[in-house]
Amino acid sequence: MKENGKFIVFEGPGAAGKGTQINFAKELLSRNGFDVVTTREPGGTSGGEEIRQLIFKLRGEHLINPGEQMVLFFAARRLLVKQVIKPNQALGRLILGDRFYSSTGAYQGYAEGGDMKKIEGLIRVGLDGFKPDAVVLLDVSAKVAIARLKKEGNDDPFDRANPEYFERLVAGYREMAGTGWGDLRWYVVNGERSIEEVSKSVKGVLENILGTKLRE
Ligand code: TMP
Repeated sequence: MKENGKFIVFEGPGAAGKGTQINFAKELLSRNGFDVVTTREPGGTSGGEEIRQLIFKLRGEHLINPGEQMVLFFAARRLLVKQVIKPNQALGRLILGDRFYSSTGAYQGYAEGGDMKKIEGLIRVGLDGFKPDAVVLLDVSAKVAIARLKKEGNDDPFDRANPEYFERLVAGYREMAGTGWGDLRWYVVNGERSIEEVSKSVKGVLENILGTKLRE
């Protein structure tokens, strides 16, 4: 097994293709000798899954504002970092995350109008400044995200938001990537192409992050 311990996050709006590309990356990296673990946000731990349900419920009933959602997302995230991410990093495993606090920036910050400074405070206080090694943004326009979600259909309340919400979300992701928000290493992959083309770009990004060539 190759020692690694890196934590690489995949980001993007619903239906950007995160799940598909994380599966691709996991198989590719495993074939190349990495011991890979995947995580999902919000959730990933039993406590986190309960907090996820609670967030969806309270938000659905309009009982929590963006700032309060942030606190709950960070509570779930704290458990994930402590119970899953750090222990696996210590074992030298490579972790692929489906969302991390960059999602809170895009959703509760940009899309919902919450205070980005509050998120930065929660990273410091709630996570002791913990950072992922890289963030891979699967970039799709609001129009494409909405069209794909309509086709898929699901019960995620965040995915049922209006087109303006998606516009703010996508613009937020692009701005965060463009400015290197969170002092993070961002990579942008055009997610509107075929799965194979996107995977090819994802492979290139992983090679860059890991500083090594990967065989097919
Ligand atoms: P999922 O679609 O990856 O299962 O994520 C669940 C929803 O939660 C998704 O629509 C985005 C939303 N979300 C936030 O609003 N803020 C966050 O910090 C995270 C992690 C997810």
